[in-house]
Order: sequence, then C-alpha cells, then structure tokens
Amino acid sequence: MDRPDRIAVLYNTDYDHELTSDEVDVGAVEESARAIASALSEVGYRVDLIGMQGLDVFEVLGRLRESKHDLVFNLCESMAGKPENEPTFAGMMDLFGVPYTGADLLALASCLHKQRTKELLTAAKVPTPPYRYLDSAAAVADPELDTLDYPWFVKLAREDASVGITEENLVASAAALRKRATDLMAEFEQPVLAERYIEGREINVTLLGNGANLRVLPLHEIDFAGMPADRPRIVSYAAKWDETHVDYAGTKPVPLRDAAPALVEAIERVARGAWTALGLRDYGRVDLRVDRAGTPWVIDVNPNCDISPDAGVARSGAVAGYAYPQLIDLITRLAWARIKQL
Ligand SMILES: Nc1ncnc2c1ncn2[C@@H]1O[C@H](COP(=O)(O)OP(=O)(O)O)[C@@H](O)[C@H]1O
Ligand SMILES: [Mg+2]
Repeated sequence: MDRPDRIAVLYNTDYDHELTSDEVDVGAVEESARAIASALSEVGYRVDLIGMQGLDVFEVLGRLRESKHDLVFNLCESMAGKPENEPTFAGMMDLFGVPYTGADLLALASCLHKQRTKELLTAAKVPTPPYRYLDSAAAVADPELDTLDYPWFVKLAREDASVGITEENLVASAAALRKRATDLMAEFEQPVLAERYIEGREINVTLLGNGANLRVLPLHEIDFAGMPADRPRIVSYAAKWDETHVDYAGTKPVPLRDAAPALVEAIERVARGAWTALGLRDYGRVDLRVDRAGTPWVIDVNPNCDISPDAGVARSGAVAGYAYPQLIDLITRLAWARIKQL
C-alpha cells in the first residue's frame, strides 16, 4: 500500500500552565488537529484524534502500540506545559517504535534552541546573519557588543510565533540592545539571540518531502505596503496575533511578486541548505530576508510548522493547486514513503 490506513492524530492538551509563551497555542493546537483529522477523513483514512496532556504519555503510547494505527500524525508542540518536551515526545515515539510524521528529536531540539540553529547553519555555510548568543548578564555586558554594525535585532532564543517580538527588538545601538536583551531575559526567563538586522524583503519558503523528493512550494513574501512609515518592517507578535493592530494589516502574506529567476533560485537553494543542515523531514518552513544586494539570509527554521488551513503552508499549497485535504494527504504520503523507504 502506498499510504497508511489508520492514523492517530496526536496533539497536546497541556495548555493549562503558567508559561506566557504558550498563550498563543491555547485552543489553536486543538483547532488545527481537528482540521487535519477531518481533512484526513475526507480523503479516506480511518482517523482517531487523541489529545495528550503529557504526564499520561505512557498511557497514550500504550494505546498506540495496542491499537492498529499505521501512523501517528504528530502535532504535539509541548508536554506537561513545557515546549522543550516537544522533542522528548518524538524521541519516545522512536523508542517505542511508533512511526510518526515530521521531524525527529534532534531536528526539533536544534530548532527550539536558536543558538544551535545558528551554529548548524553557520557550519553548513548557509547564509544567516551574524549573531551573538546572550545567556547571562555578563554576556550582555560584553564590551564587544559596542563594536557591532548596528542596527541589530533581538529575539528570544527558545520561542517561535513571534513571541517577544515588538518594534523595540530592532536596536540601533549597544545601549538599546542591552536594554531590550535584559528586559526579554527577565520577562521570559530564557536566553536571547541578537542578530544583524537585515533590511529588505521577507520570504516564507514551504518545503515538502525528503531526500531526492524534497520540493519547494510556491514562494510567499510579506507585503509591508500597509505598514505605517514610522514602524519597522518586521512581523511582530501583534502582526501575527492581533487583528486590530496596525502591524497586522502591515504584514500581509502574498505570493512572491516580480522576482528575477536568479533570486528565486538563490532563495530555494538557501532554504534547501537550511532544511538539510537542520535535518528536517516531511514538511517545514524556512523564513529568509533578502538584503539590497539580493542575498537571502536565513532568519528562522521551522520543523513541524503550522499546517492549519489558514497558515502559510496551506497558502503555498493552494497556489500549487492542492486543496487542503489533498495537501494533508500529500504530507501523509511523504512521511509514509520515508518510513517505508518506498
Ligand atoms: N535578522 C533579522 N533581520 C530582520 N528582521 C528579523 C530578523 N530576525 C527576525 N526578524 C523579524 O522578526 C520576525 C520574527 O522573528 P523569527 O526569527 O522568525 O522568530 P519566530 O520564531 O518568532 O518566528 C521575523 O518574521 C522578521 O520580521
Ligand atoms: Mg519566524
């Protein structure tokens, strides 16, 4: 068979915790899981939707081993209230021999710790902005920060979905960098990453497949035309999650426009390099910024990225001609082909 029959769509239900970082996920994970489960049913799979809190992991794994599911569609973003358990759960499925979609422990962990992402990209010679990893007051005080080529950009080292990103993260001086880094470390209780700010277009690249079958779906970019002139052209937290905010209207994802073939080729090459360097599987998204000289720089690598009907992957899939259920079916078949080495 070229595709599985019974699929368990597994998602996390551990929203009930203190971490501010996961506020964005409340309900969204379940909604996304439901959409994926019904897409799978629509194209003929037998589907069970299973919520997991985290501390019930043995019970859930026991159920999965006894039931006759062929594949887990893994939508677990955290366990027991901690996003750092996302990789742990993938590792447990490997331990128990449960086949699953998406990235493994190592890739998930490497992208969750953004300084590791930077090290791996740098080692693989994939263009990514120069950076400093700031994990202590001493690192923030380092006089070397005074010599950087400002403006730079500050972000949390263990977050995604633009958590902690506001206009204050774009810093024009060492003093501003130190202040923002110190504030973020205090508020979110985690290290930060500072990077050279890349002024220019922001591109989202969706990749699907594995090995020789890896393909890039139609590119998208952020249309900043609606952004007030006095605001930085970045995708802030408000831009992503607050529909009433000026940044929301100012950051519209649209298919890439008027791009020279050489630019498209360079973006795709760099995105594939990032995918390979981080060891992604089945589906993922790489975000880049293109500077004035036309060089694409990787700013973010997202394994097991958002595949809800209203997210970037689905938008790209639609441009490529895939209705949503067909796109989810394709991701399932790609995972299956990898697992069965078809
Ligand atoms: N080096 C950078 N130069 C310019 N803008 C950046 C840079 N890094 C991040 N940004 C802006 O901040 C947004 C969020 O940063 P990103 O690294 O993608 O974090 P997240 O994991 O939260 O998505 C990006 O979409 C982009 O607009
Ligand atoms: Mg991003």
